[in-house]
Amino acid sequence: MEQQKRYGHFDDQHREYVITDPQTPWPWINYLGNEDFFSLISNTAGGYSFYKDAKFRRITRYRYNNVPMDNGGRYFYIKDGDTVWNPGWKPCKTPLDFYECRHGMSYTRITGKKNGIEASVLFFVPLKKWAEVQKLTLKNESSETKSLKLFSFEEWCLWNAATDMENFQRNFSTGEVEIEGSTIYHKTEYRERRNHYAFYHVNAEIQGFDTDRETFVGLYNEFADPQAVMEGKPRNSHAHGWSPIASHYIEVTLKPGESRDFVFLLGYIENEQEKKFSAPQVINKEKAHALIAELDTTEKVDKAFAELCEYWDALLNIYKVKTGNDKLDRMVNIWNQYQCMVTFNFSRSASFFESGVGRGMGFRDSNQDLVGFVHQIPPRARQRIIDIASTQFPDGGCYHQYQPLTKRGNNDIGGGFNDDPCWLIFGTVAYIKETGDFSILDEMVPFDNQPGSEVTLFEHLKISMNHVINNLGPHMLPLIGRADWNDCLNLNCFSWDPNESFQTTENVSEGTKAESLMIAGLFVVTGKDYVALCRKIGKDAEAERMQQAVDAMIEAVKKHGWDGEWYLRAYDFYGRKIGSNECDEAKIFIESQGWCTMAEIGAEDGLVAKSLDSCKKYLECEHGMVLNNPAFSKYIYEYGEISSYPEGYKENAGIFCHNNPWVIIGECLAGRGNDAWSHYAKILPSYVEEKYQTLHKVEPYVNCQMVAGKDAFKPGEGKNSWLTGTAAWMWYTVSEFILGIKPDYDGIRIDPCLPETATDYTVNRKFREAEYEITIHPNGAQKGVKQIVLDGKPVDGTVIPYSVGKHTVEVTM
Ligand code: BGC
Repeated sequence: MEQQKRYGHFDDQHREYVITDPQTPWPWINYLGNEDFFSLISNTAGGYSFYKDAKFRRITRYRYNNVPMDNGGRYFYIKDGDTVWNPGWKPCKTPLDFYECRHGMSYTRITGKKNGIEASVLFFVPLKKWAEVQKLTLKNESSETKSLKLFSFEEWCLWNAATDMENFQRNFSTGEVEIEGSTIYHKTEYRERRNHYAFYHVNAEIQGFDTDRETFVGLYNEFADPQAVMEGKPRNSHAHGWSPIASHYIEVTLKPGESRDFVFLLGYIENEQEKKFSAPQVINKEKAHALIAELDTTEKVDKAFAELCEYWDALLNIYKVKTGNDKLDRMVNIWNQYQCMVTFNFSRSASFFESGVGRGMGFRDSNQDLVGFVHQIPPRARQRIIDIASTQFPDGGCYHQYQPLTKRGNNDIGGGFNDDPCWLIFGTVAYIKETGDFSILDEMVPFDNQPGSEVTLFEHLKISMNHVINNLGPHMLPLIGRADWNDCLNLNCFSWDPNESFQTTENVSEGTKAESLMIAGLFVVTGKDYVALCRKIGKDAEAERMQQAVDAMIEAVKKHGWDGEWYLRAYDFYGRKIGSNECDEAKIFIESQGWCTMAEIGAEDGLVAKSLDSCKKYLECEHGMVLNNPAFSKYIYEYGEISSYPEGYKENAGIFCHNNPWVIIGECLAGRGNDAWSHYAKILPSYVEEKYQTLHKVEPYVNCQMVAGKDAFKPGEGKNSWLTGTAAWMWYTVSEFILGIKPDYDGIRIDPCLPETATDYTVNRKFREAEYEITIHPNGAQKGVKQIVLDGKPVDGTVIPYSVGKHTVEVTM
């Protein structure tokens, strides 16, 4: 095989991905921050920061899809004689003697060396702080004394990232800053309705600064060669309007072997209305001073960093597997869980593919993200469930998205996606099973955030189920509404206007016969969960009512949703089949195979096995399973956005990684461990890392939303990394169905489904107030637990009952 070029490798011991060549095939990024203050950072220090909401509270500016790509970030320029360079290679792109970027758990460390100087920057957001720390260490490794000129650089965003990109007739006149010692304050719009400001500080005396972009860069220069830096002369500019920036200038002399730390701090502050100013027009900086004082020495910063590392130690100790297979262990123990935290925090709002201005928190997305996160920090999951449910409408429908800053439903994105309500059950059940906290069901939760409209969360679950039952079509299958999980299957939309969004344009509900088999399966899965929950809390009549609805749905699927070899996908507006052998194109779709096999509909009649076999036969390819097959080759007015994509991309026969796990879980429930594993390994980043260094392009340490499918021009090319439901679904699949450790109301259910080749493995699982060390002996079996021994005593069935304390469990298959 041809030797692939490599850009990096895993370092499991430090839980890092180490990038050794700055010219990755695409910016490979990381996320900083765990709550409130967040940053995106690429392997060349590009990216930006924001407070809570990437749209409404953007702190630093970023230009998406620019030339060059990934332009703008936190840059350090080092001028050593005539050579100007950056530790992260960009933007100067001066060839470095050494380059390394280590992306770790909520931190990134970038190191560059040039002409005997090493510059290493540690970037992180300390726990509970609204600030990004950039600890720069300069070291003289040469044998002569070096006099360097150091320039820092950040560019302010005028807060609202959307208007920042377009309303220049206003923007160029509003920018305001203040400079005080080594701190540059950004206070645009503070004079009027904003009570927040940002600052950029360094814990050293500065010999100059700049705050006006054009003065610093020069109108005809670039980030790669800012005039002030090239000439080694700051201008001490004070921005009035135009584009405010923050740049410190520091002269540093280092003897041979000497090293020096500089702590740069990018902070965000909110003031009370009455305490905004310390003098007319002058911001009250008390809180900034206090924040700076907490992080103004190497010792304080190192301590904050140690706390962050301990925080991650604790989080990643909750579920730990030891299989002896490094590729599996590193994904389960590190990167998959890490990605789950990131998707929990950002939903689909801010990545290098999501601009931060288009989308907020998805109703469906965020509920799904919970299954990947709930074991990590249950109280935050609890709050999220309440926030999501608070955007629901009294009839069970909901806004498709809400803004994280305001927690209000986003009207621009609309609603009417008929799968949305079911996901609330999915998320809530996962939370209760993890925590045993049934009290969440009694929380009073409003509709559409309207005070006075509160009902219990349980009532929200009930109306969610009812929303499906109240919206059935002619085959007694769920009406799809604007779309189901597949945002792009727009069966009631009918658009010929290229300026219309498929997602928000007309949604003809009058007379529609468009029904979804995906929602049918989802309803059966979440309906069974709902029934079990009702029984658990003594609501037997309600359980009975819903059981009947679930049974009826199963019958409807068997009768009207089976195509002979697989489950149909949908019926269109006119009641014609979609995803059927009778269709010219897109004869089979993955979503309904996934959900109906997870729901085990018709398993007794062989439907599940046939459906799974069809997935292998028609959907599987080298890089995973495609969404539909064959791809649509033309736009179909009745189907909407799905057919707008060229063949093999996105929802038109791309490998939408998010839905592969559904089929894998179907395989697991059917006991087909070999097949489950082979599907899983195909989209497991560590398994395809080498092959994908160049083909895949995007980060090899996380899943991406889509890999180009077999019909694409370039199969195997990845896109839309990081913010995807794939993270939570991969986690749910491997932790609960493959490795088989499944939280349940009364304990942990153990039911692995493995490839025949699996050898003994151990899972350490913290669960509520207990800690289990579970060793599984597969003995070549794909499925079927023969015996469980808990603390030396055999247990009946497959659930180890919950009890406080440390336990050992031996499982024989
Ligand atoms: C959205 C999901 C959706 C998926 C498939 C993603 O971009 O965030 O909500 O289910 O696309 O259309």
